[in-house]
Amino acid sequence: MSDETGREWWRSATIYQVYPRSFADSTGNGTGDLPGITNHLTDLHDLGIDAIWLSPFQTSPQKDAGYDVSNYCDVDPLFGTMHDFEVLLNRAHELGIRVLVDLVPNHSSDAHPLFQAALASTPGSPERAMYMFREGTGEHGELPPNNWESVFGGPAWTRVTNPDGTLGQWYLHLFDSSQPDFDWTNPRVHDFFLDVLRFWLDKGVDGFRVDVAHGLTKEADLPDFRRDAEYWTTPAELRPPCPFFGHPGVHPIYREWRALIDSYPGDRILCAEAFVEPLTKMAEWVRPDEMHQAFNFPFLVTRWEGEKVRGVINASLDAFGAVGAPSTWVLSNHDQIRHATRLAIDPRSYTGDRITGIGPKTEPKPDPVEGLRRARAASAMMLALPGCAYIYNGEELGLPEAMDIPDEFRQDPTFARTNGKAYGRDGCRVPIPWAADAPAFGFNDSGKTWLPQPAEYRDFARDAQTGVSGSTLELYKRALRIRREFRLGLGHLSWIEGMGENVLAFANGDVSVVANYSDKPVALPAGEIILDTTANGEPDASQGTLAPSTTVWMRRS
Ligand code: NOJ
Repeated sequence: MSDETGREWWRSATIYQVYPRSFADSTGNGTGDLPGITNHLTDLHDLGIDAIWLSPFQTSPQKDAGYDVSNYCDVDPLFGTMHDFEVLLNRAHELGIRVLVDLVPNHSSDAHPLFQAALASTPGSPERAMYMFREGTGEHGELPPNNWESVFGGPAWTRVTNPDGTLGQWYLHLFDSSQPDFDWTNPRVHDFFLDVLRFWLDKGVDGFRVDVAHGLTKEADLPDFRRDAEYWTTPAELRPPCPFFGHPGVHPIYREWRALIDSYPGDRILCAEAFVEPLTKMAEWVRPDEMHQAFNFPFLVTRWEGEKVRGVINASLDAFGAVGAPSTWVLSNHDQIRHATRLAIDPRSYTGDRITGIGPKTEPKPDPVEGLRRARAASAMMLALPGCAYIYNGEELGLPEAMDIPDEFRQDPTFARTNGKAYGRDGCRVPIPWAADAPAFGFNDSGKTWLPQPAEYRDFARDAQTGVSGSTLELYKRALRIRREFRLGLGHLSWIEGMGENVLAFANGDVSVVANYSDKPVALPAGEIILDTTANGEPDASQGTLAPSTTVWMRRS
């Protein structure tokens, strides 16, 4: 969807995240691939999305599911070939679907030739200067250069062994030890990534989702810093500045990229994965000469509480509006507990830390029925908001988190780096079900899957929901159709007061939305209901009452 002139589609689009390894597997080897995605593009077209974002499919040892890239300009054989990518891109464009690719500029894989060259050379060499190598502290350099911790657990530094077998310098990795951080103070790193951007722009991609867009530059002297429990419980605006995330040195980089992307024809975009708070700070990433969008994580992490949701919506519209950017809205992705589970989690069993995850020992267990009700209601609320909405593959089926993955199958590096204390993110990455009665629920023909699928995924299969009134899939299709028809993405929100405690209501153009976050039914005003998330078989909102944990859209007369 674009504005009246057909420009700036990204201000109001619905963008669908495809997680390639879990979307559809055309070879039967258990991992999804690019031809699998191409085969299902018509399903995405039918769903009514405007664009897809592909999580990494570039060459990688897959230590962090592709976020450890060893060749930025090629396709990992696990996912197919460059020809397969070109076929996918052409087919998507034929269907009017734009394609964003993931760009991982904070770190490469340790298998990247640049890092291998750095290891093979000496301290102070131009090769080492591409990454963050430092001498250790302590009498013999046996201690890391500072106390930073990896996001995945354990120290953020690893010591290298020199070619002659002696112990050498340390290198920084804010994530896994297989993901060394680039040194963005080095102009050669800039040039390297400008070439990577050009490569994909020349191929015809419509933009990039930029990984760890808050981390590329660090405070110069790398001061000690630990984000302890107190840090996280301090309000975002009062937290001490973090020397490795949210550093202002990133902005000139995005201005450089924006100038490049604007020199290409078409309306191509940059979307920041910038985990910075508060929203007013995140908005700095989307100033007019920087990126186009940033994922709205404060919205994603907001619990099932109407007033909190209202607060974050207001703060988002204010913060992004102040810099002329659209707000984005997102409820699930490949790093977060799926919202059909997360929204029913008892705060006692989950700290809110995305990396911690949930698993077999989590108690109390979230109620799956209530989780799905809330997810449908939250999604309907989200899809009526002005701005750009992101959908994560499988959420349109109402998929819950796979909680019972046996330890031996877990692949998220977090699980190993914390000795199993944190379950990590595998539960939201399980291959998605297409057909209830097929091997691997239609993910492939062989029945093999890189992570085991829970038996209950059968009930969520796409073919079991297609054409079934009241199914989550049909709900999404209807919501996206109305969203487009009523141009909700381009609209303006005004709150409607007085609907009751913990009930949110707003008008957006010709549609009004009522979402019941309370545990009591609420009376609805008279009017034509055009979307209702009430579960099948329950009295729906046409009776004049909105059940708890449901949302309706009504036509405004
Ligand atoms: C954010 C990505 O979404 C996540 O999956 C990855 O592990 C980290 N960045 C590191 O690249």
